[in-house]
Amino acid sequence: MENLIFIISLICCVACSDKNCDNTAISDETAISDEPFRPAYHFTPPKNWCNDPNGMVYYAGEYHLFYQYNPQGTKWGNMSWGHAVSVDLTTWQHMPVALFPDKLGDIFSGSAVVDENNTAGFQTGNEKTLLAFYTYNKNGQTQALAYSTDKGRNWTKYSQNPVLRPEGNKPDFRDPKVLWYAPENKWIMALAAGNVIEFYSSTNAKKWKYESRFGAEYGNHDGIWECPDLFQIGEKWILLVNNSRNGDNSGSATQYFVGNFDGKTFTSESPQQGQPAHWLDYGKDHYAMVTWANAPNNRKIGLAWMSNWEYANETPTKHFRSAMSVPRELTLIRENGKYLLKNEPVREMENLRGEKTTFSSIEISGNGTVKDLPVSGLYEILIDMEKQTAQQFGFKLKNSKTEEVTVLFDFQNNIFSINRTKSGIVNFSERFPATTIAPLAVKNEYQLRVLVDKCSIEAFLDGGEMSMTNLVFPNEPYNTIEFFGKNGKYTINNFAIIKLQ
Ligand code: FRU
Repeated sequence: MENLIFIISLICCVACSDKNCDNTAISDETAISDEPFRPAYHFTPPKNWCNDPNGMVYYAGEYHLFYQYNPQGTKWGNMSWGHAVSVDLTTWQHMPVALFPDKLGDIFSGSAVVDENNTAGFQTGNEKTLLAFYTYNKNGQTQALAYSTDKGRNWTKYSQNPVLRPEGNKPDFRDPKVLWYAPENKWIMALAAGNVIEFYSSTNAKKWKYESRFGAEYGNHDGIWECPDLFQIGEKWILLVNNSRNGDNSGSATQYFVGNFDGKTFTSESPQQGQPAHWLDYGKDHYAMVTWANAPNNRKIGLAWMSNWEYANETPTKHFRSAMSVPRELTLIRENGKYLLKNEPVREMENLRGEKTTFSSIEISGNGTVKDLPVSGLYEILIDMEKQTAQQFGFKLKNSKTEEVTVLFDFQNNIFSINRTKSGIVNFSERFPATTIAPLAVKNEYQLRVLVDKCSIEAFLDGGEMSMTNLVFPNEPYNTIEFFGKNGKYTINNFAIIKLQ
């Protein structure tokens, strides 16, 4: 029997490499262990394809994460909502698939909320109802409602679905993000409709009224707008919009707008079209970022799909495809008269820290200083550096197979970049080998934090004022770090390597 299972898995593996793998015969355990690029501390489904995070809601001590999921293969298709829960944002328990496609269509992205006041009338006992809003995709797109009266364990689709259809012919009408607008006791739905975000309102979550639209004249429109999120931080309202961009960091990305929302209309203080957009992350692998509804203490915690539609279906994993970013805390600051939405790993990530090696004050000019990194390939690097005379400062993460990733501060051009052109397996798509760049704020001192997992590098500068998320597929984990400087010197005041579990 064991032999038979082994042979079946073998056939599946051979049949799958780089194809749409039908994983049905493979156990979750095999799928998890037989996978060199399986992240250790980033969320992945045990097997099969996933994309956008969906339906993120906190209720009764649990963070629910639903996600776009193909139950039948490792490429996009048969879109359903996979489901996992976490009590600590760092470890996840897999749950059964929550929503499967039906005659109204495939289940595309959406959101979930706690119906505190039982506005939809589904509550049966003491437990509050969770409401999920999602898009049906079939010859066009409509919005639908599902509910759970048992803490997200079982979901029932509303019998009168869909609850919202587009007026006229709109090919793109999707990804409902619903929030409670307390001043007027009503629900607001932000919906991506082609190149704008439309807002709808409802008092019972079933009947929706059009309120306004935002965006034709604002921000970046290289690709259609998808997966919006609308939330308040302090006095301000933030609108997240996900779309693909052209240029150096091309493909899937998250932009944001800071402004106001009065229950009807969103007004932006942020860039008009033609001015540089505000990007939440400058890597190639940060998309569909949305936040948890109802998170404790009003925290704004988001999660992004860590891939890019330019090559998402081709990445060289075996039994699963795509991971989520680490959960990130979003905060708003004002700097030089401008709002800046910061994002950095949630503090819970620090619970994964193990042994820490600290080095103090290293002076660098030219090439040279090399330190070992944990061979597990799971670590965090903390660097506090002081610029001094160097025109460039940087480091390479390397392995013994001459694969490397270069992180560079270019003070002449005020650019921060990560070059993954020689990072390992890069040839599965011509769009993968790339150097991603971000504007670098002019300062004398910088603090960099880098999280490395089996197939990703997430860099956070100065507490998340800039972040850059990139996938990498090294044939061996990067196990040394080599610093370099050009035309002058700089000092690393603090440097720590922390093992992550
Ligand atoms: C974004 C997206 C959404 C859509 C989903 C389908 O990545 O294109 O707009 O709902 O993926 O899987």
